[in-house]
Amino acid sequence: MSDNHDHHDTNSDHELRVSKIHNGTVIDHVRGGQALNVLAILGIDGSEGEEVSIGMNVPSDRFPCKDIVKVEGRELSQDEVDVLSLIAPDATINIVREYDVIEKHRVERPEVVTGVLSCPNPDCITTAGEPVTSRFEVLDDAVRCAYCETIVRDEIASLIDT
Ligand code: CTP
Ligand code: ZN
Repeated sequence: MSDNHDHHDTNSDHELRVSKIHNGTVIDHVRGGQALNVLAILGIDGSEGEEVSIGMNVPSDRFPCKDIVKVEGRELSQDEVDVLSLIAPDATINIVREYDVIEKHRVERPEVVTGVLSCPNPDCITTAGEPVTSRFEVLDDAVRCAYCETIVRDEIASLIDT
């Protein structure tokens, strides 16, 4: 390639960094650097043979860069993608069947997330070894533990229970 004089590469030649998928879900416009957290939230770690492709910090039309996550063979439910809004508020969810995008929706912020995040307060009843499932209220720019009222604004992803 570098030896020839063909410099007619177009943007679209360069654009597709991650192959199209056949059937499944494409999570697009994820904040740069958050792709692995997206997978963590979805409970996907590859150990069950899931076919997953990731692009991290790739160029985007809307933002300086973005991450993109493609999960073959799985259509995410609205509930699942709502939790993603905490770390990927601008994400677009594309449901793909037979190579076509048949549904496209934005994530929506849920009012409450249960059992996904763990409270950073070591004295919280949810972290004190009691069998209490974590529960966070989702605020505009933060989450608040429903038990001890600890508020976490940044680093929400670091609370993700993996
Ligand atoms: N995609 C894919 N496999 C398919 C179809 C689409 O991986 N079989 C990916 C595309 O590469 C793109 C995303 O799914 O990243 C959305 O596809 P599409 O709606 O065709 O692209 P755009 O119109 O550019 O999407 P948007 O307007 O949401 O940016
Ligand atoms: Zn708490």
